[in-house]
Amino acid sequence: MSGLVMPSGWFVGCGNMGGAMVAGWVKAGVDLSALTAISPSGRDIPGVAVSTDLPDGEPEWVWLGHKPYQVEEVAAKVAPRIGAHTVILSILAGVECASLRRLFPEARAIVRLMPNLPVSDGEGVTGLYSDDADPALRDEISAIVGKLGFAPWGEHEADLTAISTVAGSGPAYVARFIAAMARQAEALGLPAEIAQRLALETVAGTGVMARASGEAMGPLATRVASPGGSTEAGLKVLDGDAGMDDLVARTVEAARRRTEEMAAAARD
Ligand SMILES: NC(=O)c1ccc[n+]([C@@H]2O[C@H](COP(=O)([O-])OP(=O)(O)OC[C@H]3O[C@@H](n4cnc5c(N)ncnc54)[C@H](OP(=O)(O)O)[C@@H]3O)[C@@H](O)[C@H]2O)c1
Repeated sequence: MSGLVMPSGWFVGCGNMGGAMVAGWVKAGVDLSALTAISPSGRDIPGVAVSTDLPDGEPEWVWLGHKPYQVEEVAAKVAPRIGAHTVILSILAGVECASLRRLFPEARAIVRLMPNLPVSDGEGVTGLYSDDADPALRDEISAIVGKLGFAPWGEHEADLTAISTVAGSGPAYVARFIAAMARQAEALGLPAEIAQRLALETVAGTGVMARASGEAMGPLATRVASPGGSTEAGLKVLDGDAGMDDLVARTVEAARRRTEEMAAAARD
């Protein structure tokens, strides 16, 4: 055990992402004995008690981990059960603090979190934002969420959109990059299994090396690419017109636009 104890409460909708957070806390030794996951199907969620309905008693913390479009329906059931001491912690993409405050008027504080899937291994990124959490509560949340990886507080709520569209969605983009690298390794003659592993280890190893050294990406790339060599020839393609920067800009912009649409729908 890490000595950290999760405050009593509920994780309402603990699927892909909620389950990843629970897995990360279990691996970090956080005591989850006071947390109940609310799952309509009642399916097993390793590391945490599961209930198909809201348990008795007033929760200290309520995590919202269902789909964003379900927020009105869930709030209709949860809001009458919370008191002035209850903190709402929402991972719902695009549902803003003002919308949550309207749905949970009694709550002590509203906190938004934008996690990504590597939280399951304590290697995640979780953006945090609140306009009404006091410093003591922020410290408490940082301690718990910090067990899942890097967990910066945004200064403005819009920072969460940036964190969500880059880090929240990021593992999907990186997965596509790894798959594309693997396909090319296979096209050059390697067996599929080795091609896949080689692409994955290249991305993971580069991340580990860059994190350990703190080196900026420009010099890191230069260290691999000798002038006039093969890597430099490849980089010219990535750095060219409609290359990596353009592709990533269009990808992130599409995700940002969709986040804005979802936020607008939740405001209605
Ligand atoms: N996936 C990501 O990378 C990511 C990143 C950042 C934020 N998020 C946010 O995380 C949230 C969940 O996404 P997800 O990918 O984890 O979805 P998911 O796997 O479909 O999980 C949603 C969970 O909600 C539960 N649920 C369904 N109806 C419910 C209800 N009426 N009341 C309470 N719980 C209900 C489901 O329970 P059963 O299993 O029992 O049916 C399911 O486990 C979304 O709001 C999303 O915006 C996701």
